[in-house]
Amino acid sequence: MQFFIDTANLNDIQEAYDLGVLDGVTTNPSLMAKEGITGDDNIRAHYKAICDIVDDNVSAEVIATDFDGIMKEGRQLAKLDDKIVVKVPMIKEGVKAIKAFYEEGIRTNCTLIFSAGQAILAAKAGASYVSPFIGRLDDVSTDGLSLIEQIVQIYDNYGFETEILAASVRHTMHLIQCAEIGADVATCPLNVITGLLKHPLTDQGLAKFLADHKKLNG
Ligand code: E4P
Repeated sequence: MQFFIDTANLNDIQEAYDLGVLDGVTTNPSLMAKEGITGDDNIRAHYKAICDIVDDNVSAEVIATDFDGIMKEGRQLAKLDDKIVVKVPMIKEGVKAIKAFYEEGIRTNCTLIFSAGQAILAAKAGASYVSPFIGRLDDVSTDGLSLIEQIVQIYDNYGFETEILAASVRHTMHLIQCAEIGADVATCPLNVITGLLKHPLTDQGLAKFLADHKKLNG
């Protein structure tokens, strides 16, 4: 399973990268705004700074919602760095653009996936990744993890090569359950990745080992 970090914060990206387990980054316009990144030039420079930290897979989202606009913006983003994956919303014009990007050899991440039908369309269009938002489904009393299960089954049935990128992952159990189900990737904030480290028995065990060592060795 691959781990992506879901943030535009350079310190968090660096910290996850330094841990040695980071495979990529996802951003969205809200995450960019949270970091105070505004204006086309600053936004592009920020994506470039993210690409300079990680080895691959930096999802950069288009703002346009019409086919020509999505294509123009996506091509500009893809030109910034080979690590860029163009993030395109699941709308009619987005599906057309995903197909066109596929034919141009530009990788895409189809975002805002909330149903199996949307995931089938994105895969048929040639998306490199689909991003089902499990936390936002849970927020409206719908089981987000069931959607991941459904998509895994459908993609297996037909050998779709699109990778399932579980998004809107809010806590460590989401991440672990995505791994059990077989999602290819999970994207989540830094605290969810580092949350996997924690167990009180590990802390207690280490404290005892160190205390016992100290008794004899000073
Ligand atoms: C996915 O790529 C999105 O950026 C993200 O996972 C959305 O998460 P949220 O629902 O916590 O905002």
